[in-house]
Amino acid sequence: MLSQSAAQAAPTRYEAENSPAVCSGTTDTNWTGYSGSGFCNADNAAGAYAQFTVNASAAGTATLGIRFANGTTTRAADLVVNGSTVQGVSFEGTGAWSTWVTRTLTVPVNAGGNTVRLNPTTAAGLPNIDYLDVEVGGAPSVPYSGVPDGFAQGTTGGAGGQTVTVTTQADLNRYVTASEPYVIRVAGTINISPKGTELRVASNKTIVGVGTSGHIVGGGFILRTGVSNVIIRNLTIRDTRMPDDDPGDDSYDYDAIQMDTANRIWIDHNRLTRMNDGLIDSRKDNNNLTVSWNHITDNNKTFGVGWTENTTARITIHHNWFQDNTTRNPVVDNAAYAHLYNNHLDDISASGTHVTGSTKAVIENTYYDGVRDPYYVSGNAELVQRGEIVRNSSWASGRVKSRGSAFNPSSFYSYTLHPTADVPAMLRQHAGPQSGIGG
Ligand code: GCU
Ligand code: CA
Repeated sequence: MLSQSAAQAAPTRYEAENSPAVCSGTTDTNWTGYSGSGFCNADNAAGAYAQFTVNASAAGTATLGIRFANGTTTRAADLVVNGSTVQGVSFEGTGAWSTWVTRTLTVPVNAGGNTVRLNPTTAAGLPNIDYLDVEVGGAPSVPYSGVPDGFAQGTTGGAGGQTVTVTTQADLNRYVTASEPYVIRVAGTINISPKGTELRVASNKTIVGVGTSGHIVGGGFILRTGVSNVIIRNLTIRDTRMPDDDPGDDSYDYDAIQMDTANRIWIDHNRLTRMNDGLIDSRKDNNNLTVSWNHITDNNKTFGVGWTENTTARITIHHNWFQDNTTRNPVVDNAAYAHLYNNHLDDISASGTHVTGSTKAVIENTYYDGVRDPYYVSGNAELVQRGEIVRNSSWASGRVKSRGSAFNPSSFYSYTLHPTADVPAMLRQHAGPQSGIGG
């Protein structure tokens, strides 16, 4: 089975509207997307507060997830644990009161009961507060989980099927093309021949590298029309580049992962590099795709979404490190909903994220460093860009931060936004294959 050893244990949730939490204001229900039976709308006053009484099984460090919604302006608060201010928290505007995001913080706790309180530092008061998640100790804390989130949530891959371990192309091909569900552990380097072959993955498969040992070299995977429920995780897929015959990637279509009209796919914690075409090509209404925590590096045509006149695809792209690429980081053409957050675009020579066609895109807390055209919008696309940091970058196609209102990702699923400034270091540590996954 998929190892869950690197996943976080489930945190304990304390709803702001339920005792023992105390809200110095009203419990409201007028903005959708809250969990439980409402949220705390504390009075807009300096003395207002939201306070939670939480239990810790042992003294130590607790990871807090504060879910909030906050209109359009930043509000500041002190985070007070057991009567002591442990840090200031700046709650950014979330764009709308129905847009909920989760801020993750770590604080010291005592064994037993603890009070965790938010005190606003100005008369603007607090944002609306939905809940507090608390996790104490337990498994080593990593910022990702073992199950798909975003638009691919609910994807189970080969769960329930047999688990097999492969080290040859013949075995890998036998199980990925099988009609039954399989969890396929890749436990070594598999050289694919002939070069550029894309193995045809059938429905209900998990293909997972064992620690950092699973390498697919000289080929990749294709998911064709009608394939659904596939997880590709913790693999290195690399090296079909043909720099002498085809420097522009025009003649040989050797992708790492191509998907044409497939559905429910999670691509997570892979390293994808040096292919002679796309690293990820999501084509022809391929849908309900989450691409998370990948190291996507050293490529020309990096990641494309589109090849369709329809506007149906729903795609989440988060916590990916796009490093040393040329173009398409990614290009998103005619996606119904594209949600990109906490990605790092790092040394991108031709173009960053290009949103085009009739795509509706929301890009949040993304760190751009050394990028030509960090993000740009064309066609009829709508773009909402917020929380970004842009350094050492240039704008050849014009900088448009927002066009239209796009959509509200929180109306589809909940997610945790990390502070943008933390993203590069976080991805250097946690993107790409991990020793704790796939054991
Ligand atoms: C609006 C909104 C409330 C929010 C308040 C505020 O009234 O409807 O949910 O709490 O603004 O500014 O705090
Ligand atoms: Ca309020």
